[in-house]
Amino acid sequence: MEAGEWLSSYEAIVDVGIGGSALGSLMLNQALLPMYLNEGERAPKFYLADNPDPEKAAAIWERVKGKKTALIGVSKSGATAETMSQFLWFRSRMAESGEPDGDILVITDPEGGVFRSFAADTGARSLVIPPSVGGRYSVLSACGLVTAAALGADVRAILSGAEMMKRFLAEDKPENNPAIHLAALNFLHSISGRPMTVLMPYANRLEMFSEWFAQLWGESVGKDGIGSTPIRALGAIDQHSQVQLYTAGPDDKLYTIINVAEHGCEIELPKVSDRSLQSLSYLSGQKLGGMLGMEAASTAAALVKADRPVVWIELARLDGKTLGGLIFFFEYMTATAGRLMRINPFDQPGVEQGKRYTYGMMGRDNFSADAAEAAELFRRVKENTIKA
Ligand code: PA5
Repeated sequence: MEAGEWLSSYEAIVDVGIGGSALGSLMLNQALLPMYLNEGERAPKFYLADNPDPEKAAAIWERVKGKKTALIGVSKSGATAETMSQFLWFRSRMAESGEPDGDILVITDPEGGVFRSFAADTGARSLVIPPSVGGRYSVLSACGLVTAAALGADVRAILSGAEMMKRFLAEDKPENNPAIHLAALNFLHSISGRPMTVLMPYANRLEMFSEWFAQLWGESVGKDGIGSTPIRALGAIDQHSQVQLYTAGPDDKLYTIINVAEHGCEIELPKVSDRSLQSLSYLSGQKLGGMLGMEAASTAAALVKADRPVVWIELARLDGKTLGGLIFFFEYMTATAGRLMRINPFDQPGVEQGKRYTYGMMGRDNFSADAAEAAELFRRVKENTIKA
């Protein structure tokens, strides 16, 4: 991957994008790259500017100024205000520090949008998000793969895992297809009193996977008053936060637990010899990763005891191949659920509505009617302001 090689020569990468143009990158990086990536000598450092929060943008700039920095703008539409505003700001800061547009890469639609015309005018590098691939389905395009490659992830393994999953899901009858099963379960529960779906991986490396899935699921199936609400959870942390609610609160959720059989490293606990710690002797010589797996099983058992529906996904290990497979599986499952729900899983009119109101409020040409409508609707909300 040529762009990945070019990027890997930088000391820092600032990636600007939001939603489907950001979450896939964060998910891949967390799952496959060393933890605490930006600590230590390793380069490039990676910073994602998604939320247009001035404190976050300023903090990123503080960390990259003076370093050889590449700016990546990722936007399928080439229009999103959160992305464009921060792109403009980082670009101007870089220009003031003598860093030219040659250090910029845009990843965008092949024809439309501001990023495309910017690349044509300035000669900045550009890559394509295929028009047929929606933002939240774009992680396996340049959108997610380029920075992952630059930072050292095995992109070929990710793609081959996705390809293997694609073949596996196509090879048998639909009734034996596990992605169709999970889609059907999600659909049936959503229309019979369980309008929420919890994804609970038992691995820190998959925490962002839940975040990525929440967008994929929420934006794909939340249409026409149907769908179900995705809930991100992380085992074992949420055993000590949410499992009380899950087992004894309302029976309104389907639970999908992802267990990773073999973690990237294993930790064996020391033998307990102190008298004062004797009650902990059951932990002597046990493995931490093994314990995490038992906790996943315990949560599944507790949920079943409470008559809650549980789906168990077992990953032998988390690497490029298994992650690529998992991504494809969840994309396929989501698109299938959308079809079962008889909605279009590939559009996002609710997101576009919010974008139009923002354009209007920011004074963009041709969006004044949206600005007026948003102001009127917001006035109703403001009447209920709680002052803190
Ligand atoms: O999935 C989607 O379509 C959205 O969440 C988009 O990814 C998000 O709104 C960002 O859009 P864009 O990539 O056009 O800037």
